[in-house]
Amino acid sequence: MKVRLPPAALAVVQLLTLTSGVLAAPVLDQPLLSILPVSEELPKTLSIPSRYQSTVLARRLLHLSTHGDLITIFPPSQNLSTRIPSSVASTPIGLPEYIATCEEDDALHAADPTILSLKISTATRNAEAGSNVSLAISWWDEYIHLTGTRPWAPANLPRLSLTGYLEEIPSSAVTQKGVETCFVKKHKDSVLWLPGRKWAAHEGFWTRLVVQEAYWIGGFGDKNYIGWLDPEEWRAIKREEWEGVRLPGEKKEDEE
Ligand SMILES: *[C@@H]1O[C@H](CO)[C@@H](O)[C@H](O)[C@H]1NC(C)=O
Ligand SMILES: *[C@@H]1O[C@H](CO)[C@@H](O)[C@H](O)[C@H]1NC(C)=O
Repeated sequence: MKVRLPPAALAVVQLLTLTSGVLAAPVLDQPLLSILPVSEELPKTLSIPSRYQSTVLARRLLHLSTHGDLITIFPPSQNLSTRIPSSVASTPIGLPEYIATCEEDDALHAADPTILSLKISTATRNAEAGSNVSLAISWWDEYIHLTGTRPWAPANLPRLSLTGYLEEIPSSAVTQKGVETCFVKKHKDSVLWLPGRKWAAHEGFWTRLVVQEAYWIGGFGDKNYIGWLDPEEWRAIKREEWEGVRLPGEKKEDEE
């Protein structure tokens, strides 16, 4: 049985449902958006972006992101350094990391995030001990930065998880692709750690996260694609494509 209720009534019904469990069926029949305030970030069209369109948005999100949470897994207890609590053996740890996309023009690695890996960092040590990695990024901070307002529902904004492994970028490629210049452009303070500099506070090296899979949450599922992207499509998207789309809160091209 479907029961249509005005938004205010719906909120009350939801409250009742939480406490009593009754009326659950009609509430579940209501699209979530009917309780949302009229919002500028909802797309005008009713159609859900395709996986491909979402991949283009995801590539833009990666390119515009300055940081992400890099998740690695501690080695099993027999391989764990004595400096590390034994209870974290085989446990994932996520730590924020500067990122950039400094290999955009390399067909093979265009969509692999660039990271300045410090030898002392937990993520680097775990990766060297064999851990695969994930990188989580979201549009939450940047949305607030661009619009100056908190979104009514951050859960309705894009986020992305990239899974794969870390790989050192060969020094010839670093020079040829201008990785340093690209990274410092995004992170001015990273000059303090540039690999091979005698002033560097910590020894580091350039790595790429070789993306094996990408998982995308475009926002609420009734208007957005949520799911795995195709790795081939992820890699093949061209710069012109992600330059031609806009994420929520960004000015349209003709407004810039
Ligand atoms: C643990 O260390 C041993 C000896 O160094 C090595 O052979 C083995 O591959 C390591 N195992 C893991 C899971 O890192
Ligand atoms: C890392 O992922 C690959 C699959 O991409 C898998 O074969 C390998 O066993 C994983 N490594 C570890 C240490 O779990």
